Amino acid sequence: MNKFLSSPLLQKSLFHLHTQFFSQVADKEILNSIIKSGRIKRILVTGGHGQLGTEILPYLNQIYGSDNILVTDIIQKSNAICKNFQFLDVLDRNKVESMIQLFKPDYIIHFAAKLSAIGELNPKACLSVNIDGFKNVLDVACEKKISLFTPSTIGAFGVTTPKINTPNTTIMRPSTIYGCSKVFTELLGSYYKQKYGMDFRSIRYAQTISCTEAFGGSGDFSIEIFYGAIRKKEYTCYLKEKTRMSFLYIDDLIAGTLKMIETDSEKLSESVYNIQSCSFSVGELAAAIRKHISDFEVKYEIDFRQKIVDTWPESLDDSLSRKDWGYNPKYNLGQMTSIMLKLVKEKLSYG
Ligand SMILES: NC(=O)c1ccc[n+]([C@@H]2O[C@H](COP(=O)([O-])OP(=O)(O)OC[C@H]3O[C@@H](n4cnc5c(N)ncnc54)[C@H](O)[C@@H]3O)[C@@H](O)[C@H]2O)c1
Repeated sequence: MNKFLSSPLLQKSLFHLHTQFFSQVADKEILNSIIKSGRIKRILVTGGHGQLGTEILPYLNQIYGSDNILVTDIIQKSNAICKNFQFLDVLDRNKVESMIQLFKPDYIIHFAAKLSAIGELNPKACLSVNIDGFKNVLDVACEKKISLFTPSTIGAFGVTTPKINTPNTTIMRPSTIYGCSKVFTELLGSYYKQKYGMDFRSIRYAQTISCTEAFGGSGDFSIEIFYGAIRKKEYTCYLKEKTRMSFLYIDDLIAGTLKMIETDSEKLSESVYNIQSCSFSVGELAAAIRKHISDFEVKYEIDFRQKIVDTWPESLDDSLSRKDWGYNPKYNLGQMTSIMLKLVKEKLSYG
C-alpha cells in the first residue's frame, strides 16, 4: 500500500468518517421502536447485498454494532455500508459451516435467494439456491443452535388462495418454482422448530418498495415506476393497469422484521407471519405519482410476469402479526409515493 494511504493518521480519520457514517444512516423513529431482548448479539447475513440486505444493513449496524454484523453474498457492492464482508455461496455447505465457526453469530438472517421472475426463467437455479442453499444454512444453524430468520413471500400463495385479505393460515398451492421453494422453506423451518426446538422465524413480505433498485422479482415495476417518473416522466409497465397487489414499504418491513426477531418466542403463536403496508393497483399508483408530476405517462406492454402476479393475493390479513408481536405499519399509498419520489430524486441527483 502507498505510504500515505497506510499512515496511521489517515487510517484513523477514515475509520472515524466510516463510523460517523454508520451512525447517521438509520431512521431514528424505527431505531427507537426496537426493544432489544439481549438475545441477539452477532448476526450473519446471507445474500446481504441484494435489495433487502442493502436496506436493513444500516439498522443492523446501528442496533448491534457494525463489528457484530457479517455481510455475505456472491456479489460485492462497492458502495455498501458494511464493515465486514465475506464472499459466501450458500450452496457450499462446508464454507457455510466454516464461516459460521469463524464469526460465531447467534443469529442468521438468510436473504440469499432467486426471486420469482428469474426463477421462472431458470427453475433449476432457483431450486438449487432456494432449497439446497436454504437447507445448508438451516442444518448448520440447527446443529450449532443458532437462531434463523428468513423471509417468505406473497408468492407462496396461489390461485386457489383467498385473494382478498389473505389469512395467515390458508391454502398454499403456488404455481411458480419460487412459490414452491418458499412453501418448502416455511414448512421445513417450522418442522425443525417443532422437532429440534430450533428458533426459526419467517415473515411473508408483500411486494417491497424501496429506493434500492430491485432485479428479478415480478413486482419490480413498483420501484422502476418511480425512477421512470423522475428520469423521464414516463414508464412502460409490464403489468396491466388494473393489476392489484399487496405492497410493503421498506420502513414498515425493517421496523417489522427487527421487532419480530427481538420478540420473546413465547409470544409467537406461529413461525411464519403475513405483513403488508397497503394494497393498490398499477393504475392507482400511477395516479398517485401524477399528483406530484402531472404530465407523468404510463404505457403498457404486458409480459410473462403478468401470469405470475395474477396468482398473488391482492391484500394480506396481518392481524396475527399485530396481535402477537405488535406489527404497526405506518405507510399508505399517498405517504409512500411522496417519500419514494423524494428519495429517488435525491438518489439520482447524487449520481
Ligand atoms: N424484494 C421483495 O419484494 C421481496 C418480497 C418478499 C420476499 N422477499 C424475500 O426476501 C429475501 C431477499 O430478497 P431481495 O429482494 O433482497 O432479493 P435480491 O435478489 O435483491 O437479493 C438476493 C441476494 O442473494 C444473493 N444470492 C443469490 N444466490 C446466492 C448464493 N448461491 N449464495 C449466496 N448469495 C446468493 C444475490 O447475489 C443477491 O444479492 C429473499 O428471500 C426474497 O425471497 C423479497
